[in-house]
Amino acid sequence: MNMPTAGLTDTFVNGIDLSVDFAGIKAPNPFWLASAPPTDKAYNVVRAYEAGWGGVVWKTLGEDPAAVNVSSRYSAHFGRNREVLGFNNIELITDRSLEINLREITAVKKAWPDRALIVSIMVPCEEAAWKHILPLVEATGADGIELNLGCPHGMPERGMGAAVGQNPDLIEKVTRWCKQYYSKPVIVKLTPNITDIRAPARAALRGGADAVSLINTINSITSLDLDAMVARPTVGSQSTHGGYCGSAVKPIAMNMVAEIARDAPTRDLPISGIGGISNWRDAAEFVALGAGSVQVCTAAMLHGFRIVEEMKDGLSRWMAEKGYRTIADFTGKAIPNTTDWKHLDMNFQTIAHIDQDKCIECGRCYIACEDTSHQSIAKRVDAGGARRYEVIEEECVGCNLCQITCPVQDCITMVPQETGKPYMSWEEDPRNPFRKLSAADPAAL
Ligand SMILES: Cc1cc2nc3c(=O)[nH]c(=O)nc-3n(C[C@H](O)[C@H](O)[C@H](O)COP(=O)(O)O)c2cc1C
Ligand code: SF4
Ligand code: SF4
Repeated sequence: MNMPTAGLTDTFVNGIDLSVDFAGIKAPNPFWLASAPPTDKAYNVVRAYEAGWGGVVWKTLGEDPAAVNVSSRYSAHFGRNREVLGFNNIELITDRSLEINLREITAVKKAWPDRALIVSIMVPCEEAAWKHILPLVEATGADGIELNLGCPHGMPERGMGAAVGQNPDLIEKVTRWCKQYYSKPVIVKLTPNITDIRAPARAALRGGADAVSLINTINSITSLDLDAMVARPTVGSQSTHGGYCGSAVKPIAMNMVAEIARDAPTRDLPISGIGGISNWRDAAEFVALGAGSVQVCTAAMLHGFRIVEEMKDGLSRWMAEKGYRTIADFTGKAIPNTTDWKHLDMNFQTIAHIDQDKCIECGRCYIACEDTSHQSIAKRVDAGGARRYEVIEEECVGCNLCQITCPVQDCITMVPQETGKPYMSWEEDPRNPFRKLSAADPAAL
């Protein structure tokens, strides 16, 4: 196969070293394409590398015969101006033969040795199936594997994907087989369709995983055609639930990443962060919450491979400004500040402040606070009919609602108050009815 080969690496951007060593997998930068259509063939992956992506996770391989997809496949949750807030798909794993995929992976890895190439795999939860496919994948020379235990549609019905990812015992078992029959790093990709993400992460660790990646997609129905009475995407006159991803899932994904990063058993387990990452800032947030690399799918599907340029440029500029020399310098830096509610400072107080020079008198803050918060904004109308909105400081509880509602950037700011009171957690708060119990027996909390 003829294909363009690696040129200069994309390690140094704006003088900053963006390279990562993720669980033993080296890449010139932390921006990887997630296992999905952008990585389903050599043609795509090579152009992604040319555009500057540091790595890819190849579209999930399975046993032959290859999966068969339906038409149509995608739908979206749109914002008011048709921006895609969330994306939904009912696709399966690769619909190309194992042999073609393995051949292409081998050729791409050979031509692009400096880029990370990870192979995603989903086969039945039987030792023989893993024992068969793993040596074939190892022979490609790829840098590692990612176990797709999280596909929410099509595959669980066949005992694969989320059917395994929702069962910690099976996760542990499959991970152990992979460590037994494959010599390079094993990443376990987690499904978010579970109550407590720490359970599958701990199971992956017990099985010997080198890292986890998350999140895969969230079960979803994005919208309905109310004339035809069917959800989208529509296949003939029917539909089914799909997997939700894109910007809308980022908050859910970040919480799950943080949960694993601050959980004692898994705190040192490398995490590849996935879910709604669209720009450098999203990526930096995932890294600050403990991700050592990030993966992108929807943003690349909507805007193309070149978004990585902004990601690398923006991240490296920000790192230079903050004095971070490497990605590792700020990996997990926000974790010590991410805690349980009971440890928050009950004596901290912040109050809304309205900048009258920026205010356009729309009244949205007033309505929000008056109708649904603490009636802490006064509306004053002068003789000429001009409106003025003022915060009643004694009433404001500092909930942020007015600031969130205000359409003008920085018009409402939240101002921390000097209370003179020391830090006091809920465990120490005299208003806590269980305080006595906690003082007598701190372990009971
Ligand atoms: C069309 C489509 C196909 C996908 N196929 C796979 C797949 O084969 N294997 C897999 O592990 N994840 C698959 N995913 C999930 C993505 O890898 C990723 O986990 C998810 O989309 C969240 O990232 P995002 O918000 O950047 O899209 C797919 C996602 C989409 C949108
Ligand atoms: S912060 Fe909350 S309580 Fe205070 S003025 Fe704004 S909406 Fe009202
Ligand atoms: S929402 Fe903002 S712009 Fe509108 S009245 Fe309130 S402070 Fe002024």
